Amino acid sequence: MEAKAAILWGVNEPWSVEEVELDDPEPSEVLVRMVAAGLCHSDEHLVTGDLPIYMPAVGGHEGSAVIEKVGANVTGLIPGDHVVMSFIPSCGRCRWCSSGHQTLCDLGEHLMTGMPIANGAPRMRARGQGVGPMSLVGCFATHQVVHEASVVKIDPEVPLDKAALVSCGVTTGWGSAVNTAGVRPGDVVVVVGIGGIGSNAVQGARIAGARIIVAVAPIESKLEVAKRLGATHTASDVYSAFSLVNEITWGQRADSAILTVDVARGELIGPTLSLVRKGGNVVVTALAPFTQSEVNLSLFELTLWHKELRGSLFGGGNPRADIPKLLKLYQSGQLDLDDLLTKTYSLEEINEGYEDMRTGKNIRGVVAFE
Ligand SMILES: NC(=O)c1ccc[n+]([C@@H]2O[C@H](COP(=O)([O-])OP(=O)(O)OC[C@H]3O[C@@H](n4cnc5c(N)ncnc54)[C@H](O)[C@@H]3O)[C@@H](O)[C@H]2O)c1
Ligand SMILES: [Zn+2]
Ligand SMILES: [Zn+2]
Repeated sequence: MEAKAAILWGVNEPWSVEEVELDDPEPSEVLVRMVAAGLCHSDEHLVTGDLPIYMPAVGGHEGSAVIEKVGANVTGLIPGDHVVMSFIPSCGRCRWCSSGHQTLCDLGEHLMTGMPIANGAPRMRARGQGVGPMSLVGCFATHQVVHEASVVKIDPEVPLDKAALVSCGVTTGWGSAVNTAGVRPGDVVVVVGIGGIGSNAVQGARIAGARIIVAVAPIESKLEVAKRLGATHTASDVYSAFSLVNEITWGQRADSAILTVDVARGELIGPTLSLVRKGGNVVVTALAPFTQSEVNLSLFELTLWHKELRGSLFGGGNPRADIPKLLKLYQSGQLDLDDLLTKTYSLEEINEGYEDMRTGKNIRGVVAFE
């Protein structure tokens, strides 16, 4: 069928919105009509080359959709179902899925090839060339064909533009605080970088019962949103956060610090590690350039203060359990999704949306499909 998609043809090029050809789903796949797609910073990492991917690529990994067609072997999904994309597929059967670590599903290996799980061949063609989908979902497209392991069915009562946010940003940020940092009632938590991910790390910390949440961002408007979402204190950078945290905690420092800046850089790790107390933890959720291998930190402090440094992929939880749970929290008024969606764009306006992200205008911009 004919569809329209935002394609990346090379590093540092703009997204090119064009007509594409889309194949029918294979037996384990579904055809979806996209409703909304969030502009996460991870797609920007494709543009800058931080995250290498097969090109041409169709971007987008945070989205909501309606099922239009299901392959012969698909169970549990029918046309008309509302779904959100899961940027890490979960098979439900591998060692990781069956032991409560769906974000580590073995199907994740296909993310490295960037080609569909079912048979490794592109489903979409642009200008006659096969197109690789970002995170196996490539949802900057009016329609897409994805593996059943890459979608999570949701309650049709939830508005699909808000549901799209839970597909990556909300689940990743919330899980970084709740699952990876393991925030407990009464904790002191610092979130460094307030965008689509950091704003939800703030919400996760609040829901987990943190007593003090310090939001760190260089942009005042983002700190204002962070306060509405639960931040009790704010700082403009990691160094002023250090003085603030020392003062608030009488020198003990924070229980956890979560790094959710646009690009994780080695020189940020040391100052973030210094924010936490003896036995505290630092969670690195922000993505670094593929080639970044140097980190600046005090190994003395790491060992003798018994600190932990942890990575977090998709919030370290289980998308099939966490996504419906987060949507229930939204419906019960405990999780704010309305304040996160700053502006909607048409697919044709996607480069404008990314420019607004770069200049710090949005908590989250979203492409709304007709
Ligand atoms: N680990 C995962 O599974 C996962 C999932 C999604 C996104 N990510 C990554 O998380 C990061 C954040 O994504 P996002 O969509 O929220 O990006 P974003 O651009 O919306 O937000 C990043 C924020 O960091 C702020 N910032 C930059 N440098 C800073 C500094 N030194 N101190 C404080 N704040 C600073 C920016 O002003 C911006 O508001 C990206 O690297 C993204 O690729 C990781
Ligand atoms: Zn994302
Ligand atoms: Zn699995």
